[in-house]
Amino acid sequence: MADGFAGLNLVGHSASFQAALRLIERIARCDATVLIQGETGTGKELAGRAIHYLGARRGAPFIAVNCGAIPEQLVESELFGHARGAFTDAREAREGVIAQAEGGTLFLDEVDSLGARSQVALLRFLQDREYRPVGGQAMRRADLRVIAATNADLAAMAGRREYRQDLLFRLDVLALRLPPLRERPGDAALLADLFVRRLSEQYRGAPRALDPGLRASLGDRPWPGNVRELENFIHRAFLLSDGPVIGAAEDGQDEASEVQSGGLPFHAAKAAAIEGFERRYLVDLLTRTRGNVSEAARLSGKERSRLGRLLKKHGLARDAFLGAEGA
Ligand SMILES: Nc1ncnc2c1ncn2[C@@H]1O[C@H](COP(=O)(O)OP(=O)(O)OP(=O)(O)O)[C@@H](O)[C@H]1O
Ligand SMILES: [Mg+2]
Repeated sequence: MADGFAGLNLVGHSASFQAALRLIERIARCDATVLIQGETGTGKELAGRAIHYLGARRGAPFIAVNCGAIPEQLVESELFGHARGAFTDAREAREGVIAQAEGGTLFLDEVDSLGARSQVALLRFLQDREYRPVGGQAMRRADLRVIAATNADLAAMAGRREYRQDLLFRLDVLALRLPPLRERPGDAALLADLFVRRLSEQYRGAPRALDPGLRASLGDRPWPGNVRELENFIHRAFLLSDGPVIGAAEDGQDEASEVQSGGLPFHAAKAAAIEGFERRYLVDLLTRTRGNVSEAARLSGKERSRLGRLLKKHGLARDAFLGAEGA
């Protein structure tokens, strides 16, 4: 079992997370609709993928849609597709995500954000697995598994009549709750090691390790953004520290706004603050522009050559940012 999950990169040894993994394994063996609940960044989409790739539908597509990103009036056409000429912009017929996921799994993210009308449409579809593309004539049948995810409390929303109770029942046939990171003792350090290994491969540098003190303190932080926040934290620390040992960059961020004398003469403290500022500024700039120096020069209002010298001074190679995630 552990190997299967290692392949899917679901890391964690804590009892609460191991219980979630066992449930994922059992859920993967059946085909019923699943509702995954958990705070932001707890790994809901990763868990959805795990269920798909451990299950019988693994050979067919896994299609993820963020319901929160689709305007209410377009939800039906996104799900069901539309016929040519169905509405003003519909010059061509288009398949919906349900057709794209045929035989596989449809992952409906932020399912709490569907409006009243879309909730009815989804409910009907879940009831008889049939749908009609917008503006189309014929009904179509679908064969797929639905996994929905939310970080909202859908039961409470249904209690307040903000969400349809009947839709909640259809989604919540199998329920999976992912624990927040602060309730997974020991897992933050394990995950941090995983992220450092990945970053070392991605940036192709010498092997590096987390400062032991920093590593040990990770479990004490509240991580409101959970695993994603930890991942970003480690990414920043990785980029902002030199040498084989990775120290905390986050504290550096606080330093940026906090003025400390550090017992230093004014000019020395000022020079140190400027050094720190320059480095953080450049890292952020290059992360945003994914290592595009011309774009970085434009955004910063600095000449390309001057920017190049500054990067050199701080030992920052643009190559290191080519694959970076934009902020
Ligand atoms: N147990 C885990 N092991 C390794 N990586 C993880 C784990 N859980 C989450 N991650 C990573 O953390 C990030 C966030 O995970 P994911 O997108 O699945 O969270 P989410 O619950 O869907 O978040 P949101 O509510 O914001 O959509 C991803 O990069 C994912 O790969
Ligand atoms: Mg998600």
